[in-house]
Amino acid sequence: MAKQTKYCVGKVATYVNGDRLWNRLMALAKFGGLAKGGVNRQALSDEEVAARAELVRWAEAIGLEAFTDATANLFLRCRGADQNLPPILVGSHIDSQPTGGKFDGALGVLAALEGVEAIITSGMRPRRTIEVVAWMNEEGSRFAPGMMGSAVFAGARRLEDILNIHDKAGIAVKAELRKVLSAKPRLPQREFGQKPATFLEAHIEQGPILEIEKKTIGIVTGIQGKRTFRVQIDGEESHAGTSPRSVRRDALVSAVSIVQALQETMWDRKDIVRFTIGMFNVSPNAPSVVPAQVLFSVDLRHPDAETLRKLGDMIAPICRKAALRCDISVTELLHDPPLEFPQALRRKLTSIADALGIPNMEISSGAGHDARYLHYICPTAMIFIPCKNGISHNEAESITKEDAVAGARVLAEAIYSIAGAA
Ligand code: GLV
Ligand code: MN
Ligand code: MN
Repeated sequence: MAKQTKYCVGKVATYVNGDRLWNRLMALAKFGGLAKGGVNRQALSDEEVAARAELVRWAEAIGLEAFTDATANLFLRCRGADQNLPPILVGSHIDSQPTGGKFDGALGVLAALEGVEAIITSGMRPRRTIEVVAWMNEEGSRFAPGMMGSAVFAGARRLEDILNIHDKAGIAVKAELRKVLSAKPRLPQREFGQKPATFLEAHIEQGPILEIEKKTIGIVTGIQGKRTFRVQIDGEESHAGTSPRSVRRDALVSAVSIVQALQETMWDRKDIVRFTIGMFNVSPNAPSVVPAQVLFSVDLRHPDAETLRKLGDMIAPICRKAALRCDISVTELLHDPPLEFPQALRRKLTSIADALGIPNMEISSGAGHDARYLHYICPTAMIFIPCKNGISHNEAESITKEDAVAGARVLAEAIYSIAGAA
């Protein structure tokens, strides 16, 4: 029998290289980089394809094997001593919102890569295989809904149901997947159906709590529930100079009435309900034509499952009631209930942060994450690091190098502790 040497928490963390992690964060931010410091690296775009290739280069340089699957999730494998054990997956996403920050998602992928590199450099061979992962289309800004790659991986969504989803330009997921999967370097594809031993995700908080509480690490208790909808309003084009307003079927006028009614109903005095209309398209969008169609999104979130159900179920009736002279169709894209991550993994992460002397606290997630879908198939946990003023989904998103390094140190220790010593 192999001799087991006792591992003391802290050794792997000493191999985390803060400069390397920070330099990679800055280098990745060049792909789709914007003037105000953020990124536009939407899912399956050319910018994201180029960023993937860079990730693969970094991973292969330290001996990891890159591969993918039919949804273009990207895996970077560090083989463990016992290939018969299911792997640990660690990562997040590298796609962004159109005016996103450089850390949302990227921090989680690069902290995972840094954690694996720290383990390799330490010379301590893990027993389980570790796979760094960048899930396809977490953000859902170009192709909705988001978390596509992780949802299909976890069996929460079928591959055939995402293939014909289109972006605003009419390009289908199917076509972009073909492009990404045939891009260089061409990677081997793995079948779906694998059940990981554990999934870990590091992320920026995207809210102000850690900063206010002066804590460096958030141990995430769970994720609030979310429902998303598309509302389509159909009226009729007519001439702005000749058609009397009393007979128009103006889709924009109906939309304004609906938005007003929804805003009033979804307002709560405690300000817990999250209700957002982030996408709003008017057509034909010409100054002298009465608008014939409006299509808008609804993003509704709440930590309580029953409240989320009740509020979400009110959306279609409110839209119909406030529709004036237009036709309405409301389509629900997603209904994800609130979830709680397992206590055992949360305790493990807390004890690692304590052992490293890093101030930490439990915190719930208002944002959605790929960890949601992994949670349904394997023990899953998340850590947060602070982001300045809680600003995210904004080019101004900002973190400190010290916090990023603290997150990577906790993550590296967690990975090694779950992978076990060879
Ligand atoms: C993820 O980006 C979310 O919108 O929660
Ligand atoms: Mn994210
Ligand atoms: Mn995001």
